[in-house]
Amino acid sequence: MTDKIAILLTGGCGYIGSHICYEILESNLDLEIIIVDNLVNSTNDSIKRIKDKFNCNNISIYNYDLRDVDKMENVFNLHKNIKYIIHLGGHKSVKKSIQDPLEYYDNNLISTIVLLRMIKKFNSNVEFIFSSSATVYGNPDKLPLTENSPLGPINSYGRTKLMIEEILKDYALVNNSFKLTILRYFNPIGAHPSGLIGENPNGIPENLVPYIMKVISNQLPILNIYGNDYSTPDGTCIRDYLHVVDLAKAHLCAFNRKQGNNMEIYNIGTGIGYSVLDIIKQFEKLNLSVKYQFVDRRNGDSKEIYTDVSKAKNELNWIAKYDLSEMCRDSWNWWQNKTPDETKNYIFSTFIVENMH
Ligand code: WQD
Repeated sequence: MTDKIAILLTGGCGYIGSHICYEILESNLDLEIIIVDNLVNSTNDSIKRIKDKFNCNNISIYNYDLRDVDKMENVFNLHKNIKYIIHLGGHKSVKKSIQDPLEYYDNNLISTIVLLRMIKKFNSNVEFIFSSSATVYGNPDKLPLTENSPLGPINSYGRTKLMIEEILKDYALVNNSFKLTILRYFNPIGAHPSGLIGENPNGIPENLVPYIMKVISNQLPILNIYGNDYSTPDGTCIRDYLHVVDLAKAHLCAFNRKQGNNMEIYNIGTGIGYSVLDIIKQFEKLNLSVKYQFVDRRNGDSKEIYTDVSKAKNELNWIAKYDLSEMCRDSWNWWQNKTPDETKNYIFSTFIVENMH
């Protein structure tokens, strides 16, 4: 423990958290970094690589479950200097949330409530950023979305995100030293251009781009495109994809924000919608072929989602800088340079999962 100001990243070993960690160190913010992550969907590897790259000794990792009150009290007792919290920890699979809603409500909501109890008990004067999601908008009628668009999540994952937003807003209303910023992520993809860190989904990925990576690298035979009968230009769903580094930078812009009230919500996207076939075409421009077939629609999918980005631009002075070609370039750059061990693990884990069906 040091006398530096500290930032706590729950779920900090994951895809988004590791990129935020990188940006904090790259920006020389001179913060002590504390990570609590139970590794249910990540490993400590990315953070270890970041520590080596920056020769950094002020990152503490606790592989704890956020719902474990004793363990979380231990963290807050050891680190009285926490001023910033980014709450990323939580399950994030739309499909699994539909199959097992109780696990999603228990994990995502109880984690948040325990975290708030720690804040109330040990240190109520914090800036709190919550990793929310565009899935709170469900299937919007009017596009582009804004932060005031109607809310209507259509799956349990999105409902947990919306319920957590409400819990945080209610807490902020009666604790004015608790500064709340809610960031609604659209679709983060890509990897750090250095190739040092990227997305590392265990087993068979659910999200589009990691799945495409495994098809390109022949670890999966074919991409199943969930529906080509939507009322979109090419029949496939549209999403607002943004580079994970742009998303990470948005968090740094949210800290110490001078605009807005004690509680604000921002849509974090590029403002541009791309279809599934657009993404495939982008990889083909990199001379990477993606074998695919059309199958039935996926339960819980929205037809088309993209956002107006003016509030984040005007109040956080943030705007996405990477375009789709760079997002796809960096995804492949990370994936093709994985160490043989990592690739072997992926083949092995995929083989196991595939043969369990
Ligand atoms: C994108 C598009 C699919 C896989 C995700 C996460 C969710 C949340 C928001 C963070 C959709 C299509 C996908 C495949 C396909 N993340 N697709 N074949 O569903 O928009 O939501 O971002 O908060 O956790 O699930 O992203 O990448 O799963 O799907 O055709 O094998 O690609 O139908 O149209 P989604 P996704």
